[in-house]
Amino acid sequence: STVLVENADRNRCHRHTQDLRMAPGSAERLMDSTLQAAREELVRGLSGLLDRRIPAQDGPGHAVPDGAVVLGTRESSQVVRRLVPAGELARVGEDGFLIRSVSQGRRAFTVIAGNTDVGALYGAFAFLRRLQTHRPITGLSLAESPRIANRHLNYWDTERLYAGNNASGTGGLNGENGALFNFAATGESAARNLPVILDRYLVAARALASVGITGITINNVNADNAYLTPEYIEQEAALADALRPYGIRLALSIRYAAPTDQRFAPDTLTDEQMAPVDPAFQEWWSRKARQIQEAIPDFVGFTVKANSEGQPGPQDFGYDHGDGANGMATAVAPLGLRIYWRTFVYNADVDRDRLKRAYLEFGPIDDEPQPDGTRGRFLDNVFLQTKNGPLDYQAREPIHPMFGRMENTNQALELQITQEYTGQNRMLCFLAPMWEEVLKTDTYATDGDGRLLERRLVGHIVDGTAQHHADTAIVGVANLGNADNLTGHHFSQANLYAFGRQAWDWTLDSADIAEDWVRMTWGNGRGLVSALVAMMMGSWEALVSYQTPLGVAHQFRSSDHYGPAPSEVLAREDWSPVYYNQADATGLGFDRSPTGSDLTAQYFPTLAARYGDIDSVPEELLMWFHHVPWDRPMPSGRIFWDELVHRYYAGVRYVGEMRRTWDSLESQVDARRFAEVKAKLALHEADAADWRDTCVSYWQQFSGREIRATD
Ligand code: GCU
Repeated sequence: STVLVENADRNRCHRHTQDLRMAPGSAERLMDSTLQAAREELVRGLSGLLDRRIPAQDGPGHAVPDGAVVLGTRESSQVVRRLVPAGELARVGEDGFLIRSVSQGRRAFTVIAGNTDVGALYGAFAFLRRLQTHRPITGLSLAESPRIANRHLNYWDTERLYAGNNASGTGGLNGENGALFNFAATGESAARNLPVILDRYLVAARALASVGITGITINNVNADNAYLTPEYIEQEAALADALRPYGIRLALSIRYAAPTDQRFAPDTLTDEQMAPVDPAFQEWWSRKARQIQEAIPDFVGFTVKANSEGQPGPQDFGYDHGDGANGMATAVAPLGLRIYWRTFVYNADVDRDRLKRAYLEFGPIDDEPQPDGTRGRFLDNVFLQTKNGPLDYQAREPIHPMFGRMENTNQALELQITQEYTGQNRMLCFLAPMWEEVLKTDTYATDGDGRLLERRLVGHIVDGTAQHHADTAIVGVANLGNADNLTGHHFSQANLYAFGRQAWDWTLDSADIAEDWVRMTWGNGRGLVSALVAMMMGSWEALVSYQTPLGVAHQFRSSDHYGPAPSEVLAREDWSPVYYNQADATGLGFDRSPTGSDLTAQYFPTLAARYGDIDSVPEELLMWFHHVPWDRPMPSGRIFWDELVHRYYAGVRYVGEMRRTWDSLESQVDARRFAEVKAKLALHEADAADWRDTCVSYWQQFSGREIRATD
């Protein structure tokens, strides 16, 4: 009947508000505190879901009204102080919450409590989710807390906007800048640039808070130094103020060699001063970080792509990744900031199989004995940010061999939400099952004495319980843009949603996540829910089948990473599809077993043996690790060639089924979204068929066998 949030106004954010030119209608919300935001979510959510106006109240009066929802912390709320024991609340930690149904005499009400305002906000969203997904909201005694502390997005603003932009094509390749946030350099008219806060930033912030995202690196990983200039910092501060009530903190991607950029003159460094151990280097980053922190007090820190794909890094100055990361980490540690150092390094000069390079470079630093008797050189405020697989966000990869291997270093898992290689904003591909597969893969990690760890799934490594890491992080490369629905394809929203849910609790079942999302996005009708959940759950395997089945990798057109190009030969061998498929008269696939590149040796012994042997490697990873003879018998009873063809055809057939399922739901979906998804599915089916036909006919040139498409 009522939403009761005591003291919601006590933390109003006053920073920067005088200087801001604010978009009409945004001013009020810009100054919100987290508790105000929570109150607003409850009022709006409950009013919408119950279809009547639900009032809000600031104080309890003499008694909490029957049917009320009370929200707060022990600090903000008398009701919480009275009804929620401190010890129980303490157990859910900083971001966690309790939801309790309380009866007092003839009155019954719900209490949502957090230790922090943000925890309470997360509780509000969890409560609304129950209501919206038709779960009981009485008799509740719920306690939830996230398994991973830092749940971040990396947003690649200016390059490769695969999703979320308003353009109808395959991404930002058609010239339109579809970035979510408008910074000066994005070229939009100044009146709509930051520090003006557009409504869509708040829509995005609310969406992200609803799934517990705690931070966002706002610029491209191939960073532009402009983001470190005073002009930009002022804009970033305005954005940080707008996102803060939703518990979302800003971070920045930086270019390692920024200190040499003349735009910072006279505060620039010479190449000699770029030694990461040089006080000048550390002082430069410390000054820059302080400047940012003065404007953004809760600034997270820097994401660094160093010595990767042409980006500068410590190796250009004669130092290794440990020196570089630690140089920056030392500079910002007194400010409480972190360095997210990416491990996406792959130049072939260390090993011709580029997949081996990251572990070869980072492994020894993790293992290095230290003067104090411990091992591992990376400092505590460094996270090594590692993609789920060793190549580059392919639709199916084995886990990265570094998971479990970096015992002495904080490791963040990086997943790609924006569907670079998984259909961009054209194809419907629900990625949660892929992430679930990654997170629940057994690393078979052992301890120093060679004994198997008790908790050793990738999820345990990432949540710190496997190897007792205190600080934990997971990062998703975001699929947001300026589209009305933020992600371009309506079903791409499911990926953002799922990332947040899995970042909060990686043990969740992806089908349950899909179900929640369908109920909240499309409706609770029984037939609708089961049809859409089933359709989504098979969509990733279908994409794998018609693009890169049975473990073959990276067959993408280099121009856009969308369409098929199995015959493409590029100047760089390690970017060329032909290098990845190794097609010849004997068979198909890349030998990474001990007879080939021996990537398998980087895994713990159980996985190394399993992947290294063509008879025991999981079928789905067959060509990732082996060059497979065309006539090899497969578990299905078909020979490899026939199985391969079968997969391509089955994948495309599945897309046809999705299209028909969607058509059958017309009466249950609003007309606009129905038509938009229908149009995408038509493109999807045509493009999937193109993948099948291009690949199968190219492979046939080598196999010389007949195409027998099976049902
Ligand atoms: C992919 C992507 C690049 C990106 C890179 C990275 O290769 O195509 O645009 O910069 O990943 O993760 O750094």
